[in-house]
Amino acid sequence: MGRKIAVVSGKGGVGKTTIACGLALALAKKGSNVCLIDLDVGLNNLDLLLGVENKVVYDISDVLKGKCRISQALINDSAFEGLYLLPSARFEEQSFDAKDVKLLSDKLVSMFDYVIIDAPAGINNNLELALASANEVLVVVTPHVASLRDADKVISIVKGKEFENVQLVINRIRGDMVVRKEMLSHSQIQKLLKLPLLGVIPESDDINIYSSFKFERISKSGSVDAFMVLAHNIKSDKKILFDYTSKYKGLLGVIRRNLKRSI
Ligand SMILES: Nc1ncnc2c1ncn2[C@@H]1O[C@H](COP(=O)(O)OP(=O)(O)OP(=O)(O)O)[C@@H](O)[C@H]1O
Ligand SMILES: [Mg+2]
Repeated sequence: MGRKIAVVSGKGGVGKTTIACGLALALAKKGSNVCLIDLDVGLNNLDLLLGVENKVVYDISDVLKGKCRISQALINDSAFEGLYLLPSARFEEQSFDAKDVKLLSDKLVSMFDYVIIDAPAGINNNLELALASANEVLVVVTPHVASLRDADKVISIVKGKEFENVQLVINRIRGDMVVRKEMLSHSQIQKLLKLPLLGVIPESDDINIYSSFKFERISKSGSVDAFMVLAHNIKSDKKILFDYTSKYKGLLGVIRRNLKRSI
């Protein structure tokens, strides 16, 4: 039986879709079978991010209404054999029953090693849907006050339910700013939010994560490496910290920090 992991946040736009996609790609690259569920109803982004928007025929609402079978709605990524997407409903007025979505995710988890659920922004019914369909949660935050304050709210909701695992992912962290003490470090954020840290993803100028994985492009920010570490940490009890500050330490690091400051 696989694992069902919901990717949630308090504040919108902090990188849930990016994290869900990058983690799924990294797990698929490590040989796992992964199904991404896009629960961002009406604002479906995952099909665009994976470049499969032209392949979408059926979506999650068609499956839930019995208009098609699950296998007809799943889209396989031709570049990553083990990666499938269940696209989101394209119309915002769609509302689903949490029990039906849970049933669907239970079916999917019997077919895949990982079911990763991309939750919509904010604290609303659709967040409840995402939580109902998972047994583990990743809370995504950025190192900014608004994101941390709103994460607190979502963490208290998540803690009120019985999840096997609730972990933190810090997105858009900047090694240069952390070294200069202009941004909270991962350990300061972790202390504030009191959640185990799954991993950190650095701020990246080239965050087209799909093409970085597909073309094995060396990302300047190391975001592919950071996602591979995230996937390792999901699979293993021995967690590794991606060192987002290493480039900014020492003499060369001072030069890089100053360069970053000037652009
Ligand atoms: N590590 C990163 N570095 C640079 N840009 C990033 C990073 N992570 C996400 N972004 C950018 O931030 C924007 C929002 O990201 P994303 O759509 O993943 O957030 P979200 O939490 O899913 O948003 P929503 O709440 O609307 O669903 C996108 O333009 C994305 O490319
Ligand atoms: Mg999103």
